[in-house]
Amino acid sequence: MTQIAHALVPGTFDPITFGHIDVVRRARRLFPRVTVAVAESLGKRGGTTFALDERVSLAREALADMPGVAVEPFCGLLVDFAREQEAGAVVKGLRAMTDFEYELQQADLNYRLDENLESIFIMSAPQYGYLSSSVVRQIASFGGDVAEFVPPCVALALKERFA
Ligand code: PNS
Repeated sequence: MTQIAHALVPGTFDPITFGHIDVVRRARRLFPRVTVAVAESLGKRGGTTFALDERVSLAREALADMPGVAVEPFCGLLVDFAREQEAGAVVKGLRAMTDFEYELQQADLNYRLDENLESIFIMSAPQYGYLSSSVVRQIASFGGDVAEFVPPCVALALKERFA
């Protein structure tokens, strides 16, 4: 039996937060190679605040100092992207119980589509338990300080977007 050498950390990352970065860092402790898979997420209600290429650039900048971590955009099904990337696992962070139902449904669907792709969950660090991209966007949209939640490049991009 071969061990899994490459895992995806998928998401919309609109924008990437310290909570995401913590999950990527911990996923990297489990797997020698991690690819952050930034979804086009066309179906998101109201669309995304940042375009796909902006979300990818911000994630690349935020994760630049993490060896063995790449950031790539994807469209379509996650299982297809995992096959294309030859990744054997998907890693997601779990915050409160509210994440569980949604993530279980995603994991169930992904298993039905490709039972060789493992879904692995990392329990969010307590300080990030209630941190989300939408909370960060909301604070930034009202001119609040988001330095505690996102890296400086993301804080600047949010400031410019909501100026
Ligand atoms: O950051 P998010 O919004 O929780 O990320 C959700 C994401 C992008 C990981 C999920 O919606 C996804 O995998 N989308 C790709 C489409 C897909 O494969 N759907 C089938 C699984 S439900």
